[in-house]
Amino acid sequence: MAKLPQDRTERVREPIRIGVLNGPNLNLLGRREPHHYGTQTLAEIESLLRDRAGADDVSLVFFQSNDEGEIVDWVQANTASVHAWLVNAAALTHTSVALRDALAGSDRPFVEVHLSNVFARESFRHTSLLSDLAIGVIAGFRASSYLFGLDALVQHLRGGAEAGAE
Ligand code: DQA
Repeated sequence: MAKLPQDRTERVREPIRIGVLNGPNLNLLGRREPHHYGTQTLAEIESLLRDRAGADDVSLVFFQSNDEGEIVDWVQANTASVHAWLVNAAALTHTSVALRDALAGSDRPFVEVHLSNVFARESFRHTSLLSDLAIGVIAGFRASSYLFGLDALVQHLRGGAEAGAE
């Protein structure tokens, strides 16, 4: 069977650079359905992630778009400069073959995150077109999902812990 990107990860010894990808409607975080997504804005989540990443000598490049094509373009344009992705594809998680193909084509490992527990919601959210390519999936911890996802990704890239390193 073909090896998945997560199986191909080699231990990264140089400073790590991660692309943080946010899909449609995540620009509205803070005021969008706070019972599902919490009250923190995307800018606040970015700031939390930057603080955590800085402590680990990791640099982050952020992107949010409501447009599937722009997201695919961004993945293509940034692949050469990142080691991995932290992905909240939002609704595109459940629909986008194009994003799946872009991430697979990048040959970079990624962690899929969701603010809400998608499995406790409508059944169409139980399907992800990304999960089987991901190192792992973290859902339901609001903004902390991103922080847990970042920790898992860094551990995976450094090759120092169990996370995805079997
Ligand atoms: C989401 C869950 C998706 O089902 C939804 O379309 C989103 C956000 C989350 O973070 O919980 O926009 O990815």
